[in-house]
Amino acid sequence: EKGGYEHFMLKEIFEQPRSILDSMRGRMIAESDHLMMGGIREYENKFAKAKRIIIVACGTSWHAGLVAEYLIEDFARIPVEVEYASEFRYRNPIITEKDIVIAISQSGETADTLAALELAKSKGATIFGICNVVGSSIARATDAGAYTHAGPEIGVASTKAFTAQVTVLTLIAMIIGSKRGMLETTKLHQLMVELENIPAKVEIALQLNDQIVEIAEKFKDATNFLYLGRGYNFPVALEGALKLKEISYIHAEGYPAAEMKHGPIALIDEHMPVVVIATKDSSYEKIVSNVQEVKARKGKVIAVVTEGDTTIPSMADYVIEIPETSEPLMPLLSVIPLQLLSYHIAVMRGCNVDQPRNLAKSVTVE
Ligand code: M6R
Repeated sequence: EKGGYEHFMLKEIFEQPRSILDSMRGRMIAESDHLMMGGIREYENKFAKAKRIIIVACGTSWHAGLVAEYLIEDFARIPVEVEYASEFRYRNPIITEKDIVIAISQSGETADTLAALELAKSKGATIFGICNVVGSSIARATDAGAYTHAGPEIGVASTKAFTAQVTVLTLIAMIIGSKRGMLETTKLHQLMVELENIPAKVEIALQLNDQIVEIAEKFKDATNFLYLGRGYNFPVALEGALKLKEISYIHAEGYPAAEMKHGPIALIDEHMPVVVIATKDSSYEKIVSNVQEVKARKGKVIAVVTEGDTTIPSMADYVIEIPETSEPLMPLLSVIPLQLLSYHIAVMRGCNVDQPRNLAKSVTVE
C-alpha cells in the first residue's frame, strides 16, 4: 500500500506531480484558455464583488491560506485576511453578510476550523470550503466549495494536500482576478501555461532527493533550524519549519527574512543551520543581503535557488537548485526540497515519520 516507498510521507511527496495535476484536471486548459471551477461557478459574481475575503485554517492549511492571501490580493485586488481558526472564533470577530469566509482543511474535520466556519455562517457570511476529504464535515457545512483531489493523505505531515490546496487557490485567484478585470488576458494565459508546467517541474525538483539526503546527513544532529523566505516564499518558510519540527522534533522557526534583524539574528552562530528560500524573484536582491547577514555571523546557509543562479551559490554552504517558474507559482516548487529535507532528517533520527508523537491526522478536539 506504500507503493514500494518506506513511508507514506515519502510516497505522498513523490505523488505530487500527479496530485497537482489531479487538482487542476478539468478546471484549466491553457491551450483553449479554459478556466472553470464547478464549485465556485455560481459564486463567481459574489467573489468578484466581495469587499473582503477571510480565510480560516490551522497548521499547514493555514500556510496554504497565507499563499492565497498573496495570490488573491495580487491577481484580484481584494483584501484578504488569513486567520488561525482557533483565534478567530473566540475573539468576537467582525463578520458581515458581505464577507466571504473560506475554510481550508485537508481532513475537513478540524474542530476549530469547522467552528470558525459555523460562526461565520451564523453572522450571514458566505462560507466556502476547500477540503481534501470528500463528504467531510466542513465540506458538508459550506454553501459551496472545491475539493483538492489530492487523494488520501495518510502521513500525519501534510505534503501533497498542501500543494493541492495551493493549486486550487491559485485557480480561484485567477478566476476572480479575471472576472474582476484585474488580470489581463495575456498575463492570465501565461500563468495558465506555467501552472500546466508545474507537475513536470515538481518531477525535476524530486530528482534532488539524493542530494538532499546528503544535506540531511550533515544537519541531522542540529538542535535548531531557521527558515527564511520573502514574498510568496515566506509561507513556504513557515511550512518548511513546521514539517521539520513535527516529524524530526528539531526546534525550527520560519520567518519572513527581513524580520530576522528584529530578533532571531541573535540566535545565529556557527551551529545554526539557516534554510533560505532565495529563488530569482522580485525580492532576490533583498534576500542576497539577508544571506550575507547570516554568513557574517557564521550561520550555515542551505539555500534553495533558481537553476542557473550564481550569486547565492557563491555565498551559501549548500545549494539546492529548483526550476524557474513565475513568481506566484514558486511555492509549489520551493516547498518540495523542504518536505524532503524534513523527511530524511526525521528518518535519520529514527523518528516515526508517518505517525509523529503527540499528533493526530485530524484534530477533532479544540
Ligand atoms: O485537516 P486540516 O488541514 O484541517 O489540518 C490542519 C492541521 O492540523 C494540519 O495541517 C497539521 O498542521 C499537519 N500535521 C501539518 O503537517
